[in-house]
Amino acid sequence: MSAIARFSDEWIERVKSSVDIVSVIEKRVDLKPSGRNYVGLCPFHDEKTPSFTVNQEKQFFYCFGCGTGGNVINFIMRSENLSFPEALVYLARKSGIPVPSLSPQQQKIEEKKDRLRKINHLAAQYYYRNLRGSFGKTAREYLKGRSIDKALAREFFLGYAGEGWNEICRFLESRGINLQDAEEAGLIYQGRRGYVDRFRNRIIFPICDHLGRFVGFGGRIVGDNQPKYLNTPETLLFHKGSIIYGLNWSKESIKEKDRVIIVEGYTDCIALSAKGQKNTVASLGTAFTEHHARLLMRFTNNAVIAFDGDAAGEKGTLRGLEILRDHGMQVRVAELGDGQDPDSFARTHSADEVQQWLSSAQPLMEYQINKTISKYDIQTTEGKLSASQELVSILSQLENAVARDEYIRYAAQQLRVSEQALRSDVLHSVAKPLGSGLPPHIRGKNRHNNSNLPTSTLQGARQSTLPSGDELVEREILRWLLHEPGLMEELMEEGISVEDFEVREYRHLFSLMIQNRSDAQGASTAENLCNLGEPNGKWEEYLSSFRIVLWRRRLEKIEEKLSSLENERKGFDIHMELYRLLRDYYRVRSAIVLSIREGKNE
Ligand code: CTP
Ligand code: MN
Repeated sequence: MSAIARFSDEWIERVKSSVDIVSVIEKRVDLKPSGRNYVGLCPFHDEKTPSFTVNQEKQFFYCFGCGTGGNVINFIMRSENLSFPEALVYLARKSGIPVPSLSPQQQKIEEKKDRLRKINHLAAQYYYRNLRGSFGKTAREYLKGRSIDKALAREFFLGYAGEGWNEICRFLESRGINLQDAEEAGLIYQGRRGYVDRFRNRIIFPICDHLGRFVGFGGRIVGDNQPKYLNTPETLLFHKGSIIYGLNWSKESIKEKDRVIIVEGYTDCIALSAKGQKNTVASLGTAFTEHHARLLMRFTNNAVIAFDGDAAGEKGTLRGLEILRDHGMQVRVAELGDGQDPDSFARTHSADEVQQWLSSAQPLMEYQINKTISKYDIQTTEGKLSASQELVSILSQLENAVARDEYIRYAAQQLRVSEQALRSDVLHSVAKPLGSGLPPHIRGKNRHNNSNLPTSTLQGARQSTLPSGDELVEREILRWLLHEPGLMEELMEEGISVEDFEVREYRHLFSLMIQNRSDAQGASTAENLCNLGEPNGKWEEYLSSFRIVLWRRRLEKIEEKLSSLENERKGFDIHMELYRLLRDYYRVRSAIVLSIREGKNE
């Protein structure tokens, strides 16, 4: 179970603030004060001159030599090889802070997960030794043929599962492992005559979570048999929707380069890494999920997608990339020719060429535009029309107005149509969803932005009534009240209160009116308003103007809160809060839209 479910935000904060990073690190590293920081020899890599720095003020450490850094919990995770929750518990115990206890049921699951990880680790070591032993000769030759030498195989902990039907079974049994547990780890399954190894005559790619714990395996057949790949099935530890292959080995490099390269296959990942692209991970052929996006975004906001030549343009793939993008990742696509994959490309090109190819990656939207255009013959009017129709639907999904504008220009250039025409088509298509409202799930960053959908309608509303600007609306309401005090009742029924007036003198005057009081300042404001003469127009119109102003302010507050919540990202009960806010958001919005429609019909 994750720390998220177990520990509250407050508790984590409490643990963090109960320790001082300097005194924790001091116990393991000889620290000397240097200016505002402390420095010492880095415990995470070999060095002779100190480049390991601790900043007490910010409670942060960083090594200029190896790029490791973080807060006190990250330090404990690294130095004690603990997971995040384990490091928290470790620190809490040191500080005498009681650790929230797990329910007995949860505890059981935790213990089982621990057991399964240990079994996986044991199995990985067994496969690893196999590859190097006498049985592993064919497998070694196979790997050699794919340019994976001994050192590279060691780096990725590659192994080999022999041809026998119960080799891992017997090995695990000899180590006193309960075979039922091994079955739950996905290593073996019930055959007709007892347990059978899942992986036979396969190169084994151990799969770790980002903390380096063994959660599953991929097995590639040695040679050409089917199925080519076999993976651990879904287990307590192994969830395809949240695992990213290679993250444990690449995360430091990803942070350092502030960029992740995402490929599809194990061999793609290994081959790129061998060519110096250490910041590579593999999606293992599955579509990206929110989980993947969130996990990756812990390390960087920049992704370069390097998929097989034929796969990258497919609908399912694009959808996955959009998921990454919609979570705030800057997604670029590095294209390959048909029939090529990163593995074959890396093996036939120099490190420099690989680097060049990756840096030529184009933004996802540009890539989509080009892909779309290339599907049609844009020399013909018909082709041009179809392409532009498809482009309009892609472009109108972009919710950031600036980005949309930029890509409209780009698309018009590529398609050789007039920019104005394309823009007006896109804007037309963007305006449509207003009445129906946006789907109530989380999409791009900028969607809660008043400058997007609601603005035009709101402005329209403001123009349709006499005063423009919030201040004027407030003023006119007060003028009416001074003129006809009986209207106060109506305002009260609407639930309008003192806080709804933002102009200070108006707010003051309104509060006096509610209380039937008066003072010098209020009297002077009232006098000024009365000097304007009798209000003209209809009270109902002013009231509905005011209502819209209030709604819009509420919308703005919700939007502000939504984006701060989203940007926090680490959320715990944030989902619930988001849900509530979104619900409010759509309610308020549809109220506005309805009222504007009514206004127009009158
Ligand atoms: N994959 C899988 N099962 C398959 C085929 C593929 O799980 N039957 C996954 C594997 O994780 C694989 C990835 O999808 O690494 C990409 O598939 P593919 O491009 O076919 O794999 P390659 O790594 O190119 O395979 P090969 O060993 O032939 O190079
Ligand atoms: Mn491939």
